[in-house]
Amino acid sequence: MLQPIRQELIRGLEGLMKIKKEPIVVLSFGCGGMELERQVIYELVRRRFNFPIIFVGVDYSAAVPDVLATKFASLVSKGIVQLKTISHLGDDDLSRLKNEAASHRFSVVLLNTNAFDLKDLRENSFNLIYHTRLRHHLTAKESNQLDELATHLTTKVIELDDLFSIPAFILASIFAWRFPAVLSGAIFSYLRDFSKKELLAQEADGWTLATFSNPVWCHLRVYDKAVTKG
Ligand SMILES: C[S@@+](CC[C@H](N)C(=O)[O-])C[C@H]1O[C@@H](n2cnc3c(N)ncnc32)[C@H](O)[C@@H]1O
Repeated sequence: MLQPIRQELIRGLEGLMKIKKEPIVVLSFGCGGMELERQVIYELVRRRFNFPIIFVGVDYSAAVPDVLATKFASLVSKGIVQLKTISHLGDDDLSRLKNEAASHRFSVVLLNTNAFDLKDLRENSFNLIYHTRLRHHLTAKESNQLDELATHLTTKVIELDDLFSIPAFILASIFAWRFPAVLSGAIFSYLRDFSKKELLAQEADGWTLATFSNPVWCHLRVYDKAVTKG
């Protein structure tokens, strides 16, 4: 499921390494347990990637700090990753994080707050922003605000999320029907996913699209200001 965004993210990071002089700083909205970042870091170690990079993950869940402490324990104990949790990020904090990260290869920073709290940060504060399976947590209004926020805070946005399709909807409903407690939540959350038609309509605004059906129906959506503005 993570493979399409993992490849796109690694490609983006390798491109950034060639043109940047200070630490690369990327941001994940609704990062959850940061499994994507764990996989990316292992792959970058394998490729001998040698450039400081800060993975900032934003998630308001109180459960995430403990999940990350367990997930990154081995990488932290080997000195490959430095892990920290913060609850606020302003422009000055971001500069400080970059200074501190310059002497490490990989920094993982959990920002334990609401993603929309970042709206006051400077334009293009991050080299890249991405998110996976976040959209079904958002209302229609927040869903639009997320794109506005992401394209304000960076020049390149990558989204991996589920794709709404009638066959997938029927399958998900049959599955959820066996668990009445999650039925309505699952169905409403699924209805919040973009359909292929909705995604194709966004190509006019500069988003490019790829869809996948293995192992589940999902889409990769990319926005690149450099490409959009020529
Ligand atoms: C379905 S999980 C996906 C986690 C991870 N990205 C993944 O693909 O495994 C969505 C996560 O987004 C977080 N989340 C939802 N809305 C958020 C918001 N407005 N600000 C910060 N985190 C949010 C939730 O707490 C949850 O951990």
